[in-house]
Amino acid sequence: MENLAQNKECLQDGGIINSVAEKPTEAFENATRNIPEGEGNGSASCSGVGDAERDENALQNKELPNKRKHEPEDNQAVKRLVSEKVAIHYNTLQECGLAARSQSRIFYLRNFNNWLKSVLIGEILEKVKQNRRDVAVLDLGCGKGGDLLKWRKGRISKLVCADIAAVSVEQCQQRYSDMKARGRSNDCIFPAEFVSTDCTKELLADKLKDPEMYFDICSCQFVYHYSFETQEQADMMLRNACERLRPGGYFIGTTPNAFELVKRLEASETNSFGNEVYRVTFQKKGEYPLFGCQYDFNLEGVVNVPEFLVYFPLFEEMAKKYNMKLVFKKTFREFFEEKIQIEEHKMLMRRMQALEPYPADDRSKLVADNLEEYEHVQQYIKGCQAKLPLGTLSKSEWDATSIYLVFAFEKMS
Ligand SMILES: C[S@@+](CC[C@H](N)C(=O)[O-])C[C@H]1O[C@@H](n2cnc3c(N)ncnc32)[C@H](O)[C@@H]1O
Repeated sequence: MENLAQNKECLQDGGIINSVAEKPTEAFENATRNIPEGEGNGSASCSGVGDAERDENALQNKELPNKRKHEPEDNQAVKRLVSEKVAIHYNTLQECGLAARSQSRIFYLRNFNNWLKSVLIGEILEKVKQNRRDVAVLDLGCGKGGDLLKWRKGRISKLVCADIAAVSVEQCQQRYSDMKARGRSNDCIFPAEFVSTDCTKELLADKLKDPEMYFDICSCQFVYHYSFETQEQADMMLRNACERLRPGGYFIGTTPNAFELVKRLEASETNSFGNEVYRVTFQKKGEYPLFGCQYDFNLEGVVNVPEFLVYFPLFEEMAKKYNMKLVFKKTFREFFEEKIQIEEHKMLMRRMQALEPYPADDRSKLVADNLEEYEHVQQYIKGCQAKLPLGTLSKSEWDATSIYLVFAFEKMS
Protein backbone atom coordinates (compact mmCIF):
# COMPACT_ATOMS: atom_id res chain seq x y z
CA MET A 1 0.00 0.00 0.00
CA GLU A 2 2.90 2.28 -0.57
CA ASN A 3 3.26 4.95 -3.20
CA LEU A 4 -0.32 6.06 -2.96
CA ALA A 5 0.41 9.41 -4.50
CA GLN A 6 2.32 7.98 -7.43
CA ASN A 7 -0.27 5.35 -7.87
CA LYS A 8 -2.97 7.97 -8.01
CA GLU A 9 -1.06 9.52 -10.90
CA CYS A 10 -0.74 6.17 -12.53
CA LEU A 11 -4.48 5.75 -12.30
CA GLN A 12 -4.98 8.97 -14.15
CA ASP A 13 -2.41 8.10 -16.74
CA GLY A 14 -4.25 4.86 -17.25
CA GLY A 15 -7.37 6.87 -17.94
CA ILE A 16 -9.24 5.23 -15.15
CA ILE A 17 -10.79 8.18 -13.49
CA ASN A 18 -10.23 10.82 -16.08
CA SER A 19 -13.61 10.52 -17.69
CA VAL A 20 -15.13 13.13 -15.43
CA ALA A 21 -17.15 15.64 -17.44
CA GLU A 22 -16.54 19.22 -16.47
CA LYS A 23 -19.28 20.41 -18.79
CA PRO A 24 -22.75 19.08 -19.46
CA THR A 25 -23.34 17.46 -22.78
CA GLU A 26 -25.22 19.66 -25.20
CA ALA A 27 -28.39 17.62 -24.93
CA PHE A 28 -28.43 17.84 -21.17
CA GLU A 29 -27.57 21.52 -21.13
CA ASN A 30 -30.41 22.32 -23.49
CA ALA A 31 -32.90 20.25 -21.61
CA THR A 32 -32.00 21.49 -18.18
CA ARG A 33 -32.08 25.13 -19.14
CA ASN A 34 -35.79 24.93 -19.68
CA ILE A 35 -38.39 25.50 -17.06
CA PRO A 36 -40.43 22.56 -15.84
CA GLU A 37 -44.01 23.25 -16.75
CA GLY A 38 -46.29 23.32 -13.77
CA GLU A 39 -45.73 20.12 -11.91
CA GLY A 40 -42.23 19.81 -10.54
CA ASN A 41 -41.33 16.65 -12.37
CA GLY A 42 -42.88 17.57 -15.68
CA SER A 43 -40.90 17.51 -18.88
CA ALA A 44 -38.75 20.45 -19.80
CA SER A 45 -40.35 22.99 -22.11
CA CYS A 46 -39.44 26.24 -23.81
CA SER A 47 -41.04 29.44 -22.62
CA GLY A 48 -39.44 32.02 -24.90
CA VAL A 49 -37.54 33.88 -22.18
CA GLY A 50 -33.75 34.10 -21.96
CA ASP A 51 -31.74 31.30 -20.43
CA ALA A 52 -30.81 33.17 -17.28
CA GLU A 53 -34.37 34.25 -16.66
CA ARG A 54 -35.61 30.78 -17.31
CA ASP A 55 -33.22 29.35 -14.75
CA GLU A 56 -34.23 32.03 -12.31
CA ASN A 57 -37.93 31.43 -12.88
CA ALA A 58 -37.57 27.71 -12.57
CA LEU A 59 -36.28 28.17 -9.07
CA GLN A 60 -38.99 30.38 -7.71
CA ASN A 61 -41.69 28.20 -6.27
CA LYS A 62 -44.20 30.96 -6.32
CA GLU A 63 -43.80 31.51 -10.03
CA LEU A 64 -44.57 27.95 -10.91
CA PRO A 65 -48.28 27.15 -11.14
CA ASN A 66 -49.09 24.71 -8.39
CA LYS A 67 -50.92 21.90 -10.12
CA ARG A 68 -50.42 19.48 -7.27
CA LYS A 69 -53.96 19.92 -5.97
CA HIS A 70 -55.35 18.82 -9.32
CA GLU A 71 -52.95 15.99 -9.80
CA PRO A 72 -54.68 12.77 -10.81
CA GLU A 73 -54.76 10.25 -8.01
CA ASP A 74 -52.88 7.62 -10.02
CA ASN A 75 -49.93 10.04 -10.43
CA GLN A 76 -49.84 10.50 -6.68
CA ALA A 77 -49.93 6.73 -6.25
CA VAL A 78 -46.96 6.34 -8.61
CA LYS A 79 -45.01 8.88 -6.56
CA ARG A 80 -45.91 7.15 -3.33
CA LEU A 81 -44.74 3.95 -4.92
CA VAL A 82 -41.27 5.36 -5.64
CA SER A 83 -40.63 6.39 -2.04
CA GLU A 84 -42.15 3.14 -0.78
CA LYS A 85 -39.87 1.25 -3.14
CA VAL A 86 -36.86 3.12 -1.73
CA ALA A 87 -37.92 2.48 1.88
CA ILE A 88 -38.65 -1.21 1.27
CA HIS A 89 -35.38 -1.64 -0.56
CA TYR A 90 -33.28 -0.21 2.25
CA ASN A 91 -35.36 -1.89 4.95
CA THR A 92 -34.75 -5.31 3.44
CA LEU A 93 -31.05 -4.78 2.75
CA GLN A 94 -29.22 -7.27 4.93
CA GLU A 95 -26.32 -6.10 7.01
CA CYS A 96 -23.53 -8.53 6.31
CA GLY A 97 -20.65 -9.15 8.66
CA LEU A 98 -17.06 -8.07 8.18
CA ALA A 99 -16.05 -11.50 6.88
CA ALA A 100 -18.67 -11.44 4.10
CA ARG A 101 -17.90 -7.79 3.32
CA SER A 102 -14.22 -8.51 2.84
CA GLN A 103 -15.14 -11.12 0.19
CA SER A 104 -17.19 -8.63 -1.79
CA ARG A 105 -16.15 -7.58 -5.31
CA ILE A 106 -16.62 -3.99 -4.18
CA PHE A 107 -14.86 -4.25 -0.81
CA TYR A 108 -12.30 -1.59 -1.73
CA LEU A 109 -14.81 0.64 -3.50
CA ARG A 110 -16.95 0.73 -0.37
CA ASN A 111 -13.92 1.45 1.78
CA PHE A 112 -12.82 4.15 -0.64
CA ASN A 113 -16.24 5.86 -0.46
CA ASN A 114 -16.15 5.53 3.31
CA TRP A 115 -12.68 7.08 3.43
CA LEU A 116 -13.91 9.99 1.37
CA LYS A 117 -16.84 10.56 3.76
CA SER A 118 -14.48 10.34 6.75
CA VAL A 119 -12.20 13.00 5.29
CA LEU A 120 -15.11 15.28 4.41
CA ILE A 121 -16.77 14.91 7.81
CA GLY A 122 -13.45 15.28 9.67
CA GLU A 123 -12.51 18.48 7.84
CA ILE A 124 -15.92 20.10 8.29
CA LEU A 125 -15.97 19.22 11.98
CA GLU A 126 -12.58 20.83 12.35
CA LYS A 127 -13.86 24.01 10.69
CA VAL A 128 -16.97 24.22 12.83
CA LYS A 129 -14.97 23.58 15.99
CA GLN A 130 -12.85 26.64 15.36
CA ASN A 131 -15.84 28.68 16.49
CA ARG A 132 -17.94 26.28 18.59
CA ARG A 133 -17.26 23.80 21.33
CA ASP A 134 -20.62 22.02 21.16
CA VAL A 135 -21.48 20.66 17.77
CA ALA A 136 -24.95 19.37 16.90
CA VAL A 137 -25.25 17.20 13.78
CA LEU A 138 -28.16 16.09 11.61
CA ASP A 139 -27.45 12.89 9.68
CA LEU A 140 -30.08 13.13 6.95
CA GLY A 141 -30.66 9.72 5.37
CA CYS A 142 -28.52 8.08 8.06
CA GLY A 143 -29.22 4.54 6.83
CA LYS A 144 -28.04 1.88 9.27
CA GLY A 145 -25.66 4.29 10.95
CA GLY A 146 -22.58 3.86 8.78
CA ASP A 147 -21.24 7.21 9.97
CA LEU A 148 -21.81 6.81 13.73
CA LEU A 149 -18.16 6.08 14.40
CA LYS A 150 -17.17 9.21 12.49
CA TRP A 151 -19.40 11.28 14.76
CA ARG A 152 -17.91 9.63 17.84
CA LYS A 153 -14.40 10.26 16.61
CA GLY A 154 -15.39 13.88 15.96
CA ARG A 155 -16.58 14.25 19.58
CA ILE A 156 -19.82 15.91 18.65
CA SER A 157 -22.33 16.97 21.32
CA LYS A 158 -25.62 15.88 19.82
CA LEU A 159 -26.79 13.76 16.87
CA VAL A 160 -30.14 13.48 15.12
CA CYS A 161 -30.46 10.57 12.69
CA ALA A 162 -33.32 10.58 10.18
CA ASP A 163 -34.22 8.16 7.40
CA ILE A 164 -37.28 7.01 5.47
CA ALA A 165 -36.48 3.33 6.11
CA ALA A 166 -37.81 2.47 9.58
CA VAL A 167 -35.88 -0.80 9.86
CA SER A 168 -32.63 0.99 9.00
CA VAL A 169 -33.33 3.60 11.66
CA GLU A 170 -33.92 0.83 14.23
CA GLN A 171 -30.63 -0.79 13.25
CA CYS A 172 -28.91 2.57 13.46
CA GLN A 173 -30.32 3.07 16.97
CA GLN A 174 -29.18 -0.41 17.97
CA ARG A 175 -25.71 0.28 16.63
CA TYR A 176 -25.61 3.49 18.66
CA SER A 177 -26.69 1.63 21.84
CA ASP A 178 -24.03 -1.03 21.24
CA MET A 179 -21.41 1.63 20.69
CA LYS A 180 -22.44 3.32 23.92
CA ALA A 181 -22.42 0.06 25.86
CA ARG A 182 -18.95 -0.81 24.54
CA GLY A 183 -17.50 2.56 25.50
CA ARG A 184 -15.43 2.99 28.64
CA SER A 185 -17.28 4.45 31.61
CA ASN A 186 -15.46 7.76 31.31
CA ASP A 187 -16.14 7.97 27.57
CA CYS A 188 -18.72 10.65 27.11
CA ILE A 189 -20.76 9.69 24.07
CA PHE A 190 -23.10 12.19 22.46
CA PRO A 191 -26.87 11.93 23.04
CA ALA A 192 -28.78 10.90 19.92
CA GLU A 193 -32.32 11.01 18.61
CA PHE A 194 -33.71 8.79 15.84
CA VAL A 195 -36.51 9.67 13.48
CA SER A 196 -38.09 7.58 10.77
CA THR A 197 -39.76 9.80 8.19
CA ASP A 198 -39.80 10.75 4.54
CA CYS A 199 -37.56 13.81 4.62
CA THR A 200 -38.77 14.87 1.17
CA LYS A 201 -42.35 15.16 2.38
CA GLU A 202 -42.39 15.85 6.11
CA LEU A 203 -40.92 18.68 8.12
CA LEU A 204 -38.33 17.01 10.32
CA ALA A 205 -38.26 19.71 13.03
CA ASP A 206 -41.90 18.88 13.89
CA LYS A 207 -40.79 15.37 14.84
CA LEU A 208 -37.90 16.34 17.10
CA LYS A 209 -38.07 16.48 20.90
CA ASP A 210 -37.06 20.11 20.58
CA PRO A 211 -38.48 21.49 17.31
CA GLU A 212 -36.50 24.70 17.92
CA MET A 213 -33.12 23.01 18.03
CA TYR A 214 -30.29 24.22 15.81
CA PHE A 215 -27.62 22.22 14.05
CA ASP A 216 -24.04 23.02 13.13
CA ILE A 217 -23.74 20.39 10.43
CA CYS A 218 -26.21 18.53 8.23
CA SER A 219 -24.60 15.53 6.58
CA CYS A 220 -26.48 13.98 3.66
CA GLN A 221 -24.39 11.12 2.29
CA PHE A 222 -25.55 9.41 -0.90
CA VAL A 223 -29.13 10.57 -0.26
CA TYR A 224 -30.05 13.92 -1.76
CA HIS A 225 -30.70 12.51 -5.27
CA TYR A 226 -33.76 10.65 -3.99
CA SER A 227 -35.44 14.00 -3.43
CA PHE A 228 -35.19 15.26 -7.03
CA GLU A 229 -38.37 13.50 -8.01
CA THR A 230 -40.34 16.75 -7.79
CA GLN A 231 -39.49 20.34 -7.03
CA GLU A 232 -41.57 20.18 -3.84
CA GLN A 233 -39.66 17.13 -2.59
CA ALA A 234 -36.26 18.57 -3.43
CA ASP A 235 -37.22 21.76 -1.64
CA MET A 236 -38.53 19.94 1.44
CA MET A 237 -35.33 17.96 1.77
CA LEU A 238 -33.30 21.15 1.40
CA ARG A 239 -35.47 22.81 4.00
CA ASN A 240 -34.91 19.92 6.40
CA ALA A 241 -31.18 20.08 5.72
CA CYS A 242 -30.68 23.82 5.98
CA GLU A 243 -33.50 25.67 7.73
CA ARG A 244 -32.30 24.86 11.22
CA LEU A 245 -28.58 25.30 10.60
CA ARG A 246 -26.83 27.96 12.63
CA PRO A 247 -25.10 30.74 10.69
CA GLY A 248 -21.64 29.39 9.93
CA GLY A 249 -23.04 25.84 9.88
CA TYR A 250 -22.49 23.44 6.95
CA PHE A 251 -24.60 21.25 4.72
CA ILE A 252 -22.32 18.55 3.31
CA GLY A 253 -22.96 15.54 1.14
CA THR A 254 -22.22 13.19 -1.70
CA THR A 255 -24.45 12.64 -4.72
CA PRO A 256 -24.16 11.38 -8.29
CA ASN A 257 -22.88 13.92 -10.80
CA ALA A 258 -25.65 14.49 -13.37
CA PHE A 259 -23.16 15.71 -16.01
CA GLU A 260 -21.18 12.51 -15.71
CA LEU A 261 -24.26 10.29 -15.81
CA VAL A 262 -25.63 12.02 -18.91
CA LYS A 263 -22.24 12.02 -20.59
CA ARG A 264 -21.90 8.26 -20.11
CA LEU A 265 -25.49 7.68 -21.21
CA GLU A 266 -25.01 9.72 -24.37
CA ALA A 267 -21.88 7.73 -25.16
CA SER A 268 -23.75 4.46 -24.79
CA GLU A 269 -25.66 2.83 -27.64
CA THR A 270 -28.51 1.86 -25.35
CA ASN A 271 -30.39 3.46 -22.44
CA SER A 272 -27.95 1.87 -20.07
CA PHE A 273 -24.26 1.87 -19.19
CA GLY A 274 -22.05 0.28 -16.59
CA ASN A 275 -19.69 -2.59 -16.01
CA GLU A 276 -19.33 -5.67 -13.82
CA VAL A 277 -19.85 -3.72 -10.58
CA TYR A 278 -22.45 -1.07 -11.43
CA ARG A 279 -25.20 -0.37 -13.93
CA VAL A 280 -27.26 2.74 -14.57
CA THR A 281 -30.42 2.43 -16.66
CA PHE A 282 -32.42 5.41 -17.87
CA GLN A 283 -35.93 5.21 -19.23
CA LYS A 284 -34.94 7.23 -22.27
CA LYS A 285 -32.16 9.27 -23.80
CA GLY A 286 -32.07 12.89 -24.91
CA GLU A 287 -34.71 14.30 -22.55
CA TYR A 288 -33.57 15.30 -19.13
CA PRO A 289 -36.23 17.16 -17.14
CA LEU A 290 -35.07 19.22 -14.18
CA PHE A 291 -37.04 17.07 -11.74
CA GLY A 292 -38.20 13.47 -11.97
CA CYS A 293 -35.46 12.43 -14.39
CA GLN A 294 -35.40 8.89 -13.15
CA TYR A 295 -32.82 6.17 -13.57
CA ASP A 296 -32.19 2.82 -11.89
CA PHE A 297 -28.90 2.37 -10.17
CA ASN A 298 -27.50 -1.04 -9.41
CA LEU A 299 -24.30 -1.49 -7.46
CA GLU A 300 -23.45 -5.17 -7.02
CA GLY A 301 -26.52 -5.97 -5.01
CA VAL A 302 -26.13 -2.87 -2.86
CA VAL A 303 -28.62 -0.53 -4.48
CA ASN A 304 -31.20 -1.18 -7.14
CA VAL A 305 -33.75 1.55 -6.69
CA PRO A 306 -35.01 4.54 -8.62
CA GLU A 307 -32.88 7.66 -8.28
CA PHE A 308 -33.20 11.09 -9.88
CA LEU A 309 -30.72 13.35 -11.67
CA VAL A 310 -29.64 16.33 -9.60
CA TYR A 311 -28.69 19.18 -11.90
CA PHE A 312 -26.17 20.89 -9.66
CA PRO A 313 -26.57 24.51 -10.83
CA LEU A 314 -30.27 24.21 -9.99
CA PHE A 315 -29.52 22.65 -6.60
CA GLU A 316 -27.15 25.54 -5.88
CA GLU A 317 -29.80 28.11 -6.80
CA MET A 318 -32.46 26.35 -4.73
CA ALA A 319 -30.16 26.35 -1.70
CA LYS A 320 -30.01 30.18 -1.79
CA LYS A 321 -33.60 30.21 -0.54
CA TYR A 322 -32.20 28.89 2.77
CA ASN A 323 -29.32 31.34 2.79
CA MET A 324 -26.80 28.71 1.77
CA LYS A 325 -23.65 29.52 -0.15
CA LEU A 326 -21.71 26.88 -2.04
CA VAL A 327 -18.26 26.43 -0.52
CA PHE A 328 -17.13 23.69 -2.88
CA LYS A 329 -18.35 21.06 -5.29
CA LYS A 330 -15.77 18.50 -6.38
CA THR A 331 -15.84 15.24 -8.24
CA PHE A 332 -14.66 12.28 -6.17
CA ARG A 333 -11.56 12.27 -8.34
CA GLU A 334 -10.77 15.93 -7.58
CA PHE A 335 -11.43 15.45 -3.87
CA PHE A 336 -9.27 12.33 -3.75
CA GLU A 337 -6.38 13.98 -5.58
CA GLU A 338 -6.44 16.94 -3.24
CA LYS A 339 -6.85 15.09 0.07
CA ILE A 340 -4.41 12.27 -0.59
CA GLN A 341 -1.62 14.84 -0.51
CA ILE A 342 -2.22 15.22 3.23
CA GLU A 343 -0.28 12.68 5.26
CA GLU A 344 -3.04 12.16 7.82
CA HIS A 345 -5.55 11.29 5.09
CA LYS A 346 -3.06 9.02 3.40
CA MET A 347 -2.58 7.13 6.65
CA LEU A 348 -6.32 6.89 7.14
CA MET A 349 -6.62 5.49 3.65
CA ARG A 350 -4.23 2.70 4.57
CA ARG A 351 -6.00 1.99 7.85
CA MET A 352 -9.37 1.84 6.12
CA GLN A 353 -8.02 -0.42 3.34
CA ALA A 354 -9.46 1.99 0.84
CA LEU A 355 -7.19 0.83 -1.97
CA GLU A 356 -6.36 -2.69 -3.05
CA PRO A 357 -2.72 -3.82 -2.77
CA TYR A 358 -1.37 -4.70 -6.20
CA PRO A 359 -0.07 -7.26 -6.91
CA ALA A 360 -1.81 -9.53 -4.42
CA ASP A 361 0.50 -11.39 -2.05
CA ASP A 362 0.81 -15.18 -1.94
CA ARG A 363 -2.03 -15.57 0.55
CA SER A 364 -4.61 -13.40 -1.14
CA LYS A 365 -6.13 -12.79 -4.53
CA LEU A 366 -7.24 -9.69 -6.41
CA VAL A 367 -10.95 -8.77 -6.29
CA ALA A 368 -11.17 -8.89 -10.09
CA ASP A 369 -10.15 -12.03 -11.99
CA ASN A 370 -9.80 -10.25 -15.29
CA LEU A 371 -6.30 -8.79 -15.64
CA GLU A 372 -7.60 -5.99 -17.88
CA GLU A 373 -9.06 -4.53 -14.70
CA TYR A 374 -5.48 -3.76 -13.60
CA GLU A 375 -3.99 -2.72 -16.92
CA HIS A 376 -3.48 0.81 -15.66
CA VAL A 377 -1.32 -0.39 -12.77
CA GLN A 378 0.72 -2.69 -14.97
CA GLN A 379 1.46 0.15 -17.34
CA TYR A 380 2.47 2.38 -14.46
CA ILE A 381 4.80 -0.23 -13.03
CA LYS A 382 6.44 -0.65 -16.43
CA GLY A 383 6.91 3.06 -16.82
CA CYS A 384 8.48 3.99 -13.52
CA GLN A 385 9.82 1.04 -11.53
CA ALA A 386 7.46 1.73 -8.67
CA LYS A 387 7.99 0.11 -5.32
CA LEU A 388 5.47 -2.70 -4.88
CA PRO A 389 2.83 -3.27 -3.78
CA LEU A 390 0.87 -0.27 -5.02
CA GLY A 391 -2.58 0.75 -3.85
CA THR A 392 -5.29 0.84 -6.48
CA LEU A 393 -8.89 0.14 -7.39
CA SER A 394 -9.89 -2.11 -10.26
CA LYS A 395 -10.99 -0.23 -13.39
CA SER A 396 -14.65 -1.07 -12.85
CA GLU A 397 -14.56 0.24 -9.29
CA TRP A 398 -12.94 3.52 -10.41
CA ASP A 399 -15.61 3.87 -13.06
CA ALA A 400 -18.32 3.37 -10.44
CA THR A 401 -16.94 5.76 -7.85
CA SER A 402 -16.10 8.50 -10.34
CA ILE A 403 -19.82 9.05 -10.96
CA TYR A 404 -20.08 10.91 -7.67
CA LEU A 405 -19.37 14.36 -6.43
CA VAL A 406 -18.95 15.86 -3.01
CA PHE A 407 -20.33 19.23 -1.91
CA ALA A 408 -20.36 21.65 1.01
CA PHE A 409 -22.62 24.65 1.55
CA GLU A 410 -22.27 27.19 4.34
CA LYS A 411 -25.16 28.95 6.06
CA MET A 412 -24.82 32.70 5.79
CA SER A 413 -25.86 34.93 8.67
C1 LIG B 1 -27.14 4.90 -0.09
S1 LIG B 1 -27.97 5.00 1.46
C2 LIG B 1 -26.87 6.03 2.39
C3 LIG B 1 -26.95 5.82 3.86
C4 LIG B 1 -25.94 6.64 4.69
N1 LIG B 1 -26.10 8.05 4.50
C5 LIG B 1 -24.52 6.24 4.35
O1 LIG B 1 -23.78 7.00 3.73
O2 LIG B 1 -24.15 5.13 4.73
C6 LIG B 1 -29.30 6.10 1.10
C7 LIG B 1 -30.23 6.33 2.27
O3 LIG B 1 -31.16 7.36 1.94
C8 LIG B 1 -32.38 7.05 2.56
N2 LIG B 1 -33.48 7.80 1.91
C9 LIG B 1 -33.90 7.71 0.63
N3 LIG B 1 -34.97 8.50 0.43
C10 LIG B 1 -35.20 9.14 1.61
C11 LIG B 1 -36.18 10.07 2.04
N4 LIG B 1 -37.12 10.49 1.21
N5 LIG B 1 -36.15 10.50 3.31
C12 LIG B 1 -35.18 10.05 4.17
N6 LIG B 1 -34.25 9.16 3.83
C13 LIG B 1 -34.25 8.69 2.56
C14 LIG B 1 -32.49 5.54 2.33
O4 LIG B 1 -33.45 4.94 3.15
C15 LIG B 1 -31.06 5.11 2.64
O5 LIG B 1 -30.88 4.78 3.98
